[in-house]
Amino acid sequence: MNKLNIGIVGAGYVGLATGAVLAKFQNDVIFIDISLERIKSILSGRTPIYELGLNECLNYGLKKGYISAFTDIQQVDRNLDFVFICVQTPVTKDNTPDLRYIKNAAKSIGTFLKRQRKYAVVVVKSTILPLTTERTILPILEKYSDKKAGKAFGLCMNPEFLSEGSAVQDTLNPDRIIIGQYDNRSGSSLLNLYRNIKCPKLRVDLRTAETIKYASNVYLATKISYTNEIANICEKIGIDTIDVMKGVGLDKRISPYYLEAGCGFGGSCLPKDLKSFIKLAKSHRYEPRLLESVSTINESQPLRIIELLNSALKDMKGKKVCVLGVAFKPDTDDIRDSKAIPIIKALIERRANVMVYDPKAMRNFKVLKLNIEFAKNIEEALRNADACIIQTAWSEIKKLRPQNFKLMRNKIIIDGRRALNKNDFTDAKIIYRAIGLGRR
Ligand code: NAD
Ligand code: UGA
Repeated sequence: MNKLNIGIVGAGYVGLATGAVLAKFQNDVIFIDISLERIKSILSGRTPIYELGLNECLNYGLKKGYISAFTDIQQVDRNLDFVFICVQTPVTKDNTPDLRYIKNAAKSIGTFLKRQRKYAVVVVKSTILPLTTERTILPILEKYSDKKAGKAFGLCMNPEFLSEGSAVQDTLNPDRIIIGQYDNRSGSSLLNLYRNIKCPKLRVDLRTAETIKYASNVYLATKISYTNEIANICEKIGIDTIDVMKGVGLDKRISPYYLEAGCGFGGSCLPKDLKSFIKLAKSHRYEPRLLESVSTINESQPLRIIELLNSALKDMKGKKVCVLGVAFKPDTDDIRDSKAIPIIKALIERRANVMVYDPKAMRNFKVLKLNIEFAKNIEEALRNADACIIQTAWSEIKKLRPQNFKLMRNKIIIDGRRALNKNDFTDAKIIYRAIGLGRR
């Protein structure tokens, strides 16, 4: 089979992982991103984001000559077989989708398709609410290309299920591939592109594909809020939720995944997708009571950390509180909707002196311009601290043992992610409190 030319519009977490893997399968991949900084970074072989294995994949593609990158799709000088839309789809303050980026991407792709002589398939990977492909993207593509979908070009909605931190692995070995197709030819072309990836592949219509994405994310969110609710109850009755969830997760119908209690789910997707799906349901005059509760529990969960801290340190004013981990989860430098943000804001409100440490995400966190200090390493963060909050379970944080906390003035540890082994912290000189850890 001939090498295919694949355009990737939007070189963020999804675009870079998709493109790097397609280049690994020896396709010619052309990244298009409006950020010149991102394009320069890609071409110099340094990924603009931190993702395990992505640099290697990217450099393999660059070395083989499979990868090129531009700031504008109109600069691409050849016909494309596929164009993936991987731009961000944030929500506005009232949780309605901000479709600015996706509309601009569709306009530029449409304009590009106008001069292309060959059939190409446009594949939407960004997460968008049901009907958006049909009602927003399709008309823009047809208008700007002056061509008809299903004839001159194909259209698919192919939701992405990767998790940050394992984006490359998830793209290479997904649990499933969902192909939402405008017509049979579009779906068959995309199915063929994915022929080397072994997993169940489901072909559905465009709006079903869009809905599968939201239904999946809100299920994960529900499982986490369920876990956190059980954890909060365990705390009250003097039981450890970890032991409870071990037993619960052995039921095949439940599975052991997403049963880790913590200070809430963050990131660029679960909170946003949950909120916009709730808004969509309401706009159809349906009250999604379960999903509302999932969201409410998640909003209050970071404040459980403050309650736990308050039970050990009554007055935080002028006290040094260090926060270990500001990324929304380990193995990523992403801080979008990180639960470190509400926790730190609450600490600042209580006039604590906050110092944070994170192995990868501090550069992004500095942009928030919060009135806090940044430590060079864990030791600096812990030195003379009156309390330590664990917000991200990075492996170097999980390795901490009681002797590491000797640097603290007051040895109060609040474990927001159950990163430490409670059995290591039985010394009476250390106060160890954790989400879902009931005290007898
Ligand atoms: P991102 O913010 O990391 O990257 C988006 C990129 O698109 C940016 O580099 C931006 O400069 C670029 N861009 C914006 N408008 C453009 C345009 N008109 N032309 C070219 N480039 C443009 O976003 P992301 O995290 O990769 O998410 C992308 C989409 O995928 C979102 O809809 C998200 O909900 C969904 N998603 C994300 C993940 C994830 O783990 N991050 C997983 C599954 C699905
Ligand atoms: C999530 C989904 O897992 C992906 O399948 C989906 O593609 C993606 O959103 C998306 O649509 O963008 P991601 O945001 O990378 O991926 O992160 P997760 O690993 O799901 O974690 C989300 C949050 O939940 C993190 O803050 C994490 O700490 C928290 N979490 C996760 C828990 O509190 N407990 C758990 O058991 C699992």
